Parts: sequence; structure tokens; C-alpha cells
Amino acid sequence: MTGTRWVATAGRGLEPVVAAELAALGIAPRAAEPGGVPFEAEPLGAVRACWRLRAANRVLAELASFPAPDDETLYREVRARVERTSSEPFALSTLLPPERSFAIAATTARSALTDSRWVALRTKDAIADGQRARFGRRASVDRERPEVALRVRLDQDRATLLLDLAGEPLDHRGYRVESARAPLREQLAAAALLASGWEGRGPVVDPMCGSGTLLAEAGAIALGLAPNRLRDHWPFERLPPFRGLLERVRAEAIPAPDPAVALFGNDLDPAALAATRRNLEAAGLAAHASLSVGDAFAFEPPPGPGLVAVNPPHGARLAESPEQWRRLGDLLKRRYRGWRAVVVAGDAALGRQLGLKPTRRMAVRNGPLEARFLFLDLW
Ligand SMILES: C[S@@+](CC[C@H](N)C(=O)[O-])C[C@H]1O[C@@H](n2cnc3c(N)ncnc32)[C@H](O)[C@@H]1O
Repeated sequence: MTGTRWVATAGRGLEPVVAAELAALGIAPRAAEPGGVPFEAEPLGAVRACWRLRAANRVLAELASFPAPDDETLYREVRARVERTSSEPFALSTLLPPERSFAIAATTARSALTDSRWVALRTKDAIADGQRARFGRRASVDRERPEVALRVRLDQDRATLLLDLAGEPLDHRGYRVESARAPLREQLAAAALLASGWEGRGPVVDPMCGSGTLLAEAGAIALGLAPNRLRDHWPFERLPPFRGLLERVRAEAIPAPDPAVALFGNDLDPAALAATRRNLEAAGLAAHASLSVGDAFAFEPPPGPGLVAVNPPHGARLAESPEQWRRLGDLLKRRYRGWRAVVVAGDAALGRQLGLKPTRRMAVRNGPLEARFLFLDLW
């Protein structure tokens, strides 16, 4: 079935990376919108996107869109769609029989209805009442592991109902058993690597590796491992339009640019390094990793060239220490000559203290925080 409109949601600034990932999967993305990349695909393509996208947050199907200037209209429109008989696989009435649990998350912006919890509640009531009217019973709500994860997005008094294919955000990869301080979000780490132009070959060094997110994502890219290979719960598997599709997608080979990739992690803090070790073990990447406790400025990189990826500490203490950034710039220049570098900086002004001219910069959001990717060729 073509014509279903999907959106791969992404943090601000990451939309071009997700668009490039979709294109690499043979899916032509539409023009990106802030926070998401729309695309059209059959269910198989959407499942492939869900399984393979590294920089996206969620994959959503648009089920319906209608004006909702007040809660009565919202309720009426949703309920009517649940009660309506339809053979359309993405109709609300088809997706929501009473034996399938569901959950609703709502967002609202620039609309008369400003309370997202109220929007979620009214939508839930409309579904339950519509099911009672049609089937004589209603489905249960399961906030933890719903079979149908729905989202309602209200923007400028227009409601869009969306099916969240994976239910949980795609950055819950399942390998983070332990966290160090200030871990990088997984999709942000993946995006920094993908956008750096690194082709997935050669050694990868993170001299301040924290809990090892950049290494875990780099290893998965080099070895052609699906980002969410460790997940055991994919709610869409039980929905009729998607049955059997995940098995097909899992069986597809993902290009593995460097099956012998070597990952080098180093951190001053032994606890951070222990976290990296556990996380890389959980990710199935321990055999590729060499880990050391020590000062990044004393770390001897392996023979290169390769990729040096680093997310230096940020926050108040370091913000007072531009000198550290100058030292890092010197370190990259001296010890990683011929390498490619990606620096994930929490602060744009500090990034400039590196004293090196990036070939490119990207402004992105890490949750509520601004971050910068700086890409460098260290010639
Ligand atoms: C922002 S955290 C890195 C987070 C990491 N990207 C992750 O996802 O968990 C910065 C790390 O730099 C380490 N660090 C700070 N100064 C260092 C130095 N001179 N040498 C090595 N590691 C250092 C800290 O211990 C901390 O783990």
C-alpha cells in the first residue's frame, strides 16, 4: 500500500542526517520539517526505517488530521473515526479493536487547547466511548507496553493522530547498562559520526569516552549492526499491516564497511571506563575494543589514519576553562595528523577555542541543550 505518510522524527538540526539515512535505504525523503522528515512508504519500508535509522527518534504513521479548535470537536472527530467501519488498514477503527491495549501521548503548540494531558485524556475517552458504542467493550490502556502507541499532535488548532511504530524512542538501544556523567544521547552520537563523512573504516579513538556512546555507535556503523538489534519488544509486530515484516527486514544484510574495526576508548575516570566496558560488552562490541584509564593528553593513538571522536566535558567548571579546549586543539593537531575528527561540543563558544578551523559545523539539540558538531580534517 503506497500513500501512507510517515514521519521520522529527529532532534532539531538532525533532520538532514535522517534524510540522508532514509535516502540510503532507498526511501525518497520529502522536504524536512523542523523536528522530522516526512516520507511515503509501504509498511515494509517503514519497518526498515524503524530497524535501521540511527539518528531518528521515532517513526510515526499519520492516521488522520482534522481541525480541533476545542475539546468537543477533538472528542467527536476521534470517536467518529473509531466507530466508523473501514477496511483501510490504517483506519483507527481497524487498528483499535477492544482486545488491543493502547496508550496516548499528546503535544500541543499554538492552539486553544494548551494542556497536553487534557488532550490525551479526551482522546482516550473518545476512543473508549467509540469502542463501547461499536463493540460493547473498550480496550485497556497500557502505558508501559501498549500494543498500539498513539500520539496526538495539536498545532495551530489542527490535530494529527499518529501511530508510533516502535512505541519507545529509537535511542533506547538496550546496550546502556551503565551511564557515566553527562552521557551523549545515542542518536546524537550516531548523527555526529554519520555527518562527519567518516566511511566506517579504520580505527576509532575516543580519548574522553565517558560511558562509550560514540564508540558503541561507531562500532555498530562499521560492522553493519542494526542500532536496535538488542530490543525484544516491537509493538507493531502484532498489528496486521506489519506482521512478518520485521523478520524480513532483520534478514537483510546491512553494509559493514570494516568488519575488523578497532575501537579505542580512554578516560581519566575509572568508573566511566568501567561503564564503557559494560556497555560495549552489552552491545556485542567488546572484542573490538581496547580501553585504558588515563589522561587524553597522554594517550598514544594507534597507527592511523582513523577517526577521533570526542565529546569533551562541558558545564560550569569547564566553561571557565577555555585553556583546556586550546590544549585539545593542539592535541588533535599534533597527535592525530592525517585523521578525521568530530568534536561534540556542549557550547559553541568553547568549540571556537579549539584554535582549529572546522571543515563544517552543525548546531543540534541534545534534549533541552544546544550542542555543536565540529568536523575537522587534521592535515
Ligand atoms: C561529556 S563526558 C563524555 C560522555 C560520553 N560521550 C558518553 O556518551 O558517555 C566527558 C568525559 O571526559 C572525561 N575527561 C575529562 N578530562 C579528561 C582528560 N583530561 N582525559 C581523559 N578524560 C577526560 C570525563 O571523565 C568524562 O567522562
